[in-house]
Amino acid sequence: MTHTHTITVEPLGVEVSCREDQSILEACLRQGVNLPHACTHGTCGTCKVEVLDGDVDHGEASAFALLDSEREEGKTLICVAKPQSDVTIEADVDEEDGVVFHPVKDFTATVVTVDDCARDIRKVVLKLDGDIQINPGQYVQVQIPGQGVTRSWSVASPPASSDTIELNIRKTPGGLGTDGWIFKNLAEGDHVVLSGPYGRFFLREQRDEPAILIGGGTGLAPLKAMVRHVLETGAPHRLFLYHGARTRTDLYDVEYFTELEKTSDGQFSYRPVLSADEVEGIRHGLVTDAVDADFPTCAGHVAYLCGPPPMVEAALKTLMAKRLFPRDIYREEFLDSSDKANGGIRSPLLRTS
Ligand SMILES: Cc1cc2nc3c(=O)[nH]c(=O)nc-3n(C[C@H](O)[C@H](O)[C@H](O)COP(=O)(O)OP(=O)(O)OC[C@H]3O[C@@H](n4cnc5c(N)ncnc54)[C@H](O)[C@@H]3O)c2cc1C
Ligand code: FES
Repeated sequence: MTHTHTITVEPLGVEVSCREDQSILEACLRQGVNLPHACTHGTCGTCKVEVLDGDVDHGEASAFALLDSEREEGKTLICVAKPQSDVTIEADVDEEDGVVFHPVKDFTATVVTVDDCARDIRKVVLKLDGDIQINPGQYVQVQIPGQGVTRSWSVASPPASSDTIELNIRKTPGGLGTDGWIFKNLAEGDHVVLSGPYGRFFLREQRDEPAILIGGGTGLAPLKAMVRHVLETGAPHRLFLYHGARTRTDLYDVEYFTELEKTSDGQFSYRPVLSADEVEGIRHGLVTDAVDADFPTCAGHVAYLCGPPPMVEAALKTLMAKRLFPRDIYREEFLDSSDKANGGIRSPLLRTS
């Protein structure tokens, strides 16, 4: 029988029960205690806490995200740490006004469609066995069949679609979840096991400044959820969406966003940018250079950045040079197993979303 332990979360003073085979973060998120986290795979360091009392198994924490010296000081990454006794942790809890977090739940889904939408990118639509309550921009963790691991994929559909979610997934050569499953044999009608919602990268509806959204590759997915949510609910936010890709065959949803821009009455601007291709009607260069050229200053805006870590880092530098402060920038880096092994963790410049 698996033992269950009590986790006391300070300074909140709340108690959560956690199985010995469950991560402390997972137990907290399922019981409505939303602690800071981002990658949920021991790679980024966002979920680091101090263990005040009790014993934990540090699990598969990256040696770069949790240094040996930090382990010795009693720190741990709660997204991979499991309790071995009752444990008291001290977390860095910062409350945000107007933000509602939804507890993590389990779902079994049926694949409705799997489509190739760009080179090495698939759009997967899943029908869930219940409604998911989610903020626009959050992600789900999907179990990879037969591998005993999960992968994180952002939800590209808005919260209102509740029992049907869209994922945009890029093929990673040699990747267990993508090369070995999604791009190999995932088919309509298959069953998929997942849980969610996770993450703190989502639209802050309480912020009414114009928003600059910058996505690289499938980093478009959570931004698409935000754009659809704003436009479909009639929220007043002014949105500028930049989508960076290498060539025209790497871009997707161009017609969809072009049409949305036309019908949005000036509320939404769509700006695809190609770094390695010159195509009439589409800007050429780096997506960050396009933002740099378009905005004399970014002061008075809010920004959402998502995609490969180098793009997110470059966009952050561009925005800060244009007088946008870290507190106005939310971001999600698509870290994978190679980042865990090679230390490609988030910039120390950045605040947690
Ligand atoms: C919060 C979040 C949201 C995300 N959302 C999306 C999304 O919407 N769309 C999307 O396309 N991706 C997204 N990602 C990335 C996604 O979670 C996966 O990492 C990605 O799809 C690759 O998964 P995989 O199982 O195919 O690759 P993995 O099996 O994780 O392998 C990735 C790469 O690492 C290499 N590798 C594996 N193990 C090691 C090792 N020990 N040492 C060195 N190299 C190794 C593999 O050969 C491969 O090249 C997101 C990531 C995060 C953290
Ligand atoms: S959320 Fe725990 S290390 Fe990234």
